Amino acid sequence: MSRLVLPKMVERSKGVILNISSASGMYPVPLLTVYSATKAFVDFFSRGLHEEYRRQGIIIQSVLPFFVATKMTRIRKPTLDKPTPERYVAAELNTVGLQSQTNGYFPHAVMGWVTTRLVPSSIVIFLGARMNRLQRTGYLTRRKLREQKNGANLKTE
Ligand SMILES: NC(=O)c1ccc[n+]([C@@H]2O[C@H](COP(=O)([O-])OP(=O)(O)OC[C@H]3O[C@@H](n4cnc5c(N)ncnc54)[C@H](OP(=O)(O)O)[C@@H]3O)[C@@H](O)[C@H]2O)c1
Repeated sequence: MSRLVLPKMVERSKGVILNISSASGMYPVPLLTVYSATKAFVDFFSRGLHEEYRRQGIIIQSVLPFFVATKMTRIRKPTLDKPTPERYVAAELNTVGLQSQTNGYFPHAVMGWVTTRLVPSSIVIFLGARMNRLQRTGYLTRRKLREQKNGANLKTE
């Protein structure tokens, strides 16, 4: 996609590319390892490319959100730290041209600062693993219960 759009941007000496990485790309996230690694790629790719093209008037921004209440996360009730996409995007767009790498939304920037500057990475990785393990156990338990319920329904029919 970048290869597709960059030549025209270079011709016009202006353009903006927003690449959506994730806070999961800021440190390894066990049990989301492939996701986390691909998001780290997006972050490095964007920051490298930004340096290559910024003198030609082109902005390539790496965006690293924490949770946003979207279809993907299935968060139904937005909160301050898990905003609606509209709220997140409105805040994020204010950072374009100011930051080449951003969490895009003030509460997420605070979370980014705490998890990269304040807390040792070994603890962040450990807590991420614990959170995802709990989530996976919950999901597998609910799935088992659903399957048992469906099996019982089939027997009574
Ligand atoms: N939500 C978060 O908390 C969060 C946090 C960090 C990073 N991100 C990143 O933000 C990006 C957007 O995620 P989201 O939360 O907005 O998810 P989403 O609400 O599920 O939206 C994903 C979008 O991608 C489209 N899509 C999915 N597979 C596709 C494919 N193979 N080809 C073309 N389009 C495809 C979907 O189209 P349809 O609507 O047609 O299915 C949908 O419009 C992702 O890269 C995600 O990793 C999200």
